[in-house]
Amino acid sequence: MAVVRGGGIRLGLTERLALRDAASVTALLAVAVWAGSGRFAFFDPALAGYLGATLVAAFGTTYRLSAFWRRPASAVYARALAHGLRAPRQAWTVVRAAGRDLAAQRFIARRSRARWAAHLLLSLGTMASVAITVPLVCGWMHFVADGGAIYRVIVFGLPLGRFAIAGPLGWVVFHALALAAVAVVAGAGYFLALRLRTRALPGVTSSFHVGPLVLLLAVALSGLALPATRGSATLFLLAARLHEALVVVLLVGLPFSKLGHVLVRPLHLGAQLVRAPGARRTTCAGCGAALAPVAQQAAVERLLAARGFRFDDHQRHCPACRRRLVATAQSALLGAHFQPRTAGARPASPSRDQAA
Ligand code: HEM
Repeated sequence: MAVVRGGGIRLGLTERLALRDAASVTALLAVAVWAGSGRFAFFDPALAGYLGATLVAAFGTTYRLSAFWRRPASAVYARALAHGLRAPRQAWTVVRAAGRDLAAQRFIARRSRARWAAHLLLSLGTMASVAITVPLVCGWMHFVADGGAIYRVIVFGLPLGRFAIAGPLGWVVFHALALAAVAVVAGAGYFLALRLRTRALPGVTSSFHVGPLVLLLAVALSGLALPATRGSATLFLLAARLHEALVVVLLVGLPFSKLGHVLVRPLHLGAQLVRAPGARRTTCAGCGAALAPVAQQAAVERLLAARGFRFDDHQRHCPACRRRLVATAQSALLGAHFQPRTAGARPASPSRDQAA
């Protein structure tokens, strides 16, 4: 945790390690751009703004990711995930859960199928656009004309394949970004409409929720404006500048906005391992009812103790037994009589002050 002392800010260990991770990843990315673009031979200087924002996003995203995953409470699940990935049987469970929850996002379908479809369109459209544009912006991928009808694909200086410009693959290559943008418009449009329809509910239209949707919509629409304005140099330039400015805002704000939840989601896989149905559970010290998994209970006790909270036996009781314990203590202290009488409760003898 960052602490303000004597006018300066002293960073805690987690922040220092996160800064180290962020600086290393950004430096590695810069080296990869230099090496992967043939020492900038295939880097397009017109895309320098995009590249600057990509480097800033790499720094911010790694910082947030590293700091979040290192926090003691998240580290419990991060460790469970790392351990699970090393154990062959658990690794398969993790892979299946990742397919179901991260790739197919099936948990959203429980709320509504339309919401699920919209989220898939929004997330896959955004991820596809980033996966296509980042290698182009970094100079890692470019196309070389091979005669008038064929393009060769060069990735990291190596020929990866070729396709006919007028063929079906050529069509997909040249329209992939536009298709991704249509998916983003559909997904972001659905969620915006949903929020506006339910705007009477508190917080539904807060800038935290609406801001990223409006931004993604604007990025996708300005992207779609590029092929649409190819006939006019002025309009194309306007659309190109607008798209660049919006992408810079998106990339720089990414780690600090709601979209940053993408970085946290995989921890859920670790939580699933800790809370797996077969996991050993603690039992209530009062009535013997099954409580949280042993690993989770131990982690909560350890984390609270590290923060100076010690509840002794209290945490090992189920909520009903906790209420009973509190009632028993109050009854003993105040001499109150509960109906039916609480077992073991003895009215306290009046103090000297009360007697006086
Ligand atoms: C939601 C995410 C995004 C969507 C939906 C999107 C969509 C688009 C579309 C539809 C185009 C036009 C393609 C064409 O001309 O056929 C485009 C162009 C472009 N995009 Fe994006 N984009 C997104 C994010 C990004 C990001 C993150 C970057 C950079 C890292 C980026 C960099 C570019 C570049 C360099 C161009 C070409 C610009 C030009 O020709 O001047 N985009 N984008």
